Amino acid sequence: MSETVTEKKKVIFSAIQPSGTITLGNYLGALQNWVRLQEDYNCIFAVADLHAITVRQDPKAFRQNILNAYALFLACGIDPEKSPFFIQSHVHTHAELAWVLNCYTQFGELSRMTQFKDKSQKHPDNINAGLFTYPSLMAADILLYQADLVPVGIDQKQHLELTRNIAERFNGIYGNTFKVPEAYIGQVGAKVMSLQDPTRKMSKSDENVNAWVGILDKPDVIMKKFKRAVTDSEARVCVGEGKDGINNLIGIMSAVTGKTNDEITAEFEGKGYGDFKTAVGEAVVETLRPIQERFDDFIANKDYLAEQYRRSAEFALRLSQRTLDKVMKKIGYLAK
Ligand code: TRP
Repeated sequence: MSETVTEKKKVIFSAIQPSGTITLGNYLGALQNWVRLQEDYNCIFAVADLHAITVRQDPKAFRQNILNAYALFLACGIDPEKSPFFIQSHVHTHAELAWVLNCYTQFGELSRMTQFKDKSQKHPDNINAGLFTYPSLMAADILLYQADLVPVGIDQKQHLELTRNIAERFNGIYGNTFKVPEAYIGQVGAKVMSLQDPTRKMSKSDENVNAWVGILDKPDVIMKKFKRAVTDSEARVCVGEGKDGINNLIGIMSAVTGKTNDEITAEFEGKGYGDFKTAVGEAVVETLRPIQERFDDFIANKDYLAEQYRRSAEFALRLSQRTLDKVMKKIGYLAK
């Protein structure tokens, strides 16, 4: 038997908030990588629904969004038989450890989080304590599973850095309790920009719906959005400075077809932007088609979904309870 089989695989933890749909940017930038990571690591994934109520949610839509997020991830290739994939609110250790960690996290540290500053500016009427302590809950998510690595986007780097500080602080006081996790810097996913303002990241919170493609968008909608994509006046399909729109479209084309930028440039030599935009749209439609079909199957099979998230939650509880018990004992809580 080869050595790699007996070698202990590293643990990866990551979570994503449920928010209706995910964009082509989320898929090509992050999710596709998660799917690949399942081969080489012990991955544990979650839908971060506790984090989601730091902004107000409509109960009916929220419930639907949580289930949709779950089904969508399975459709993209997350395999809960291989990688436990659970719903955060189903595993009570998360909220419990988050409280404990809150008492080992400083007001000053939380005040410096740029996401907190941004979000409190965006929702000045609802700057709740949960929004402020959001990073301690995220730290709990990660530390409960003794994760070695956490694949995070640039916007979550600061939270991961804080997680490391909290873990080191706790270990410093009580002795080794938590694994200090590192950011997973693997193969970088494609950075997908807005189709309407290609200097900005593609985001579903963009008011202009033509700026982003949802992975559940219907083919005709996807085609329309690509045909309207902002380009430049040079009319040459190649990567270049000041050609943000075309650079972005080439990046997307490359991510969905696996072709290099040079191959794409050669293929579209002498052709106009109209042809190119149509071709990118078609390539994206073909990439998303099987995902959309699987999503429809999963969402029609609620029992199957429930079976998967329940089994994963049981596994996650067993694993995380070990860490929580250790923490409680070290702090001095009386055993039950
Ligand atoms: N805060 C992350 C986000 O909004 C989601 C998240 C919650 C997360 N817990 C996590 C990511 C733990 C990585 C690890 O994107």
